[in-house]
Amino acid sequence: MSFNGTSNLPISITLVENISISLKSTFPEKHSVSDLVRWASNILQKHNIDSPRLDAEIILSHLLSCKRIGLYTHPDKPVDNATAILFKNAIQKRARRVPLQYINNLANFMSLEFYVDERVLIPRPETELLVEAVIKLSQTMPDKREIVIVDIGAGSGNIAVTLAKNIDKARIFATDISPDALAVAKINAQKHNMLDKITFLCGDTFQPLEKVGIESKIDFIVSNPPYISSNEFNTLQKEVKDHEPYAALISGQDSLQMFKRIITNTNIWLKPNGYIVFEVGENQAVKVSRLIGGTGCFKKAYFIKDYQQIRRIVIARKEETFWTKLSLREDIV
Ligand SMILES: C[S@@+](CC[C@H](N)C(=O)[O-])C[C@H]1O[C@@H](n2cnc3c(N)ncnc32)[C@H](O)[C@@H]1O
Repeated sequence: MSFNGTSNLPISITLVENISISLKSTFPEKHSVSDLVRWASNILQKHNIDSPRLDAEIILSHLLSCKRIGLYTHPDKPVDNATAILFKNAIQKRARRVPLQYINNLANFMSLEFYVDERVLIPRPETELLVEAVIKLSQTMPDKREIVIVDIGAGSGNIAVTLAKNIDKARIFATDISPDALAVAKINAQKHNMLDKITFLCGDTFQPLEKVGIESKIDFIVSNPPYISSNEFNTLQKEVKDHEPYAALISGQDSLQMFKRIITNTNIWLKPNGYIVFEVGENQAVKVSRLIGGTGCFKKAYFIKDYQQIRRIVIARKEETFWTKLSLREDIV
C-alpha cells in the first residue's frame, strides 16, 4: 500500500483474533501533523482504544522526536513519507492493543528512559516505591563499605540500573530466568553507563549466584517477581495478556509460588541485618509477610502503600535473634 500521497485505499488491519477489519478511514493524502493525528485518532477510536488522540500524539511526537506540544504549535508541518509509513504501522500495532511503550520502545522509570520490547515487562510506577525504599535504607549503612544487592527477576533492568545509579557503593547482581530479558537489561545498563556495577546472571532464582561467592554477604535481596495466579490470566487487560511476557506475570495457581521460593532461601544468602524487599500484588502483603515470618529469622515486616492505598512493598530485616512471631507495621521507611 502506498503512502506517498497518491493512495486513497482503505487500510486493512488484522486483529489478534484474526478478524480482518477493513478500515474505511483513508490515509490522508497530505501528510501534515494535524491530518495524521486526526486520521489515527479516528482509527484508534474505532478500535475502542481508551485515549485515541493522546496515543496518536504520543506515537507521532516520538517519531518526530519532538514534544507533544510541538504538534499543536506546528499543526501544518508536512511529515515526510518514511515517517508517515512508520506512523501508519505504529497505529496499526496500537489498534491491535500493543502497548505504547513497546511501540515506541521506551518506558520511563525513576525519571530515566528505558528501552523496552516484548521480551520484558513494562516497568510500572509502583516499582519506584521499592527502589526509593532501598535507596533510603542504604543511606543508613556505613559509608565506606560496598553494598551487595541481588535483584531477582531483573526484567528490563529498571530496578538494578536505578539502584546502581543512586547508590554509589552498590555492587549489583541482576538475575532472570529469561536470557531475552537479560539482553534487554544489558542494553539499559549500557545506556545508563552502569555496566561496571551490575553483574547479569541467567537462571532460576538464586541458582546462578551459586558460583559467585556471596553466600551470607547480601545486604538487600530485592524482587518484583511475577505475582498473578494462572487462574487470573484471562482477566487481564488485552495489552498485558497478549503482549507482556507470560513468565513475567504468572506465578503458579496461588500467585505466591515465586515469593515462597525466594523466601525459603533468604536465610542462606542474606547477611545478618540484611533486608528482603518485595513488590507484591493487591491483598498479598500480609500473606507474603507471614511467609517471611515463617522462616523464623525476621522480626518485623514493614509495608509501603502505593498511590491507590494498596500495600505494595513489603520489607523485612534479618535479625540475629530468632523470632517466632512477626509483627506488621505500616509505612515505616
Ligand atoms: C514482574 S517481572 C519484573 C521485571 C522488572 N524487575 C520490573 O520490576 O519491571 C518478573 C521477572 O522475573 C523473571 N522470572 C520469572 N520466573 C523467574 C525465576 N524462576 N527465576 C528468575 N527470574 C524469574 C521474569 O522473566 C521477569 O523478567
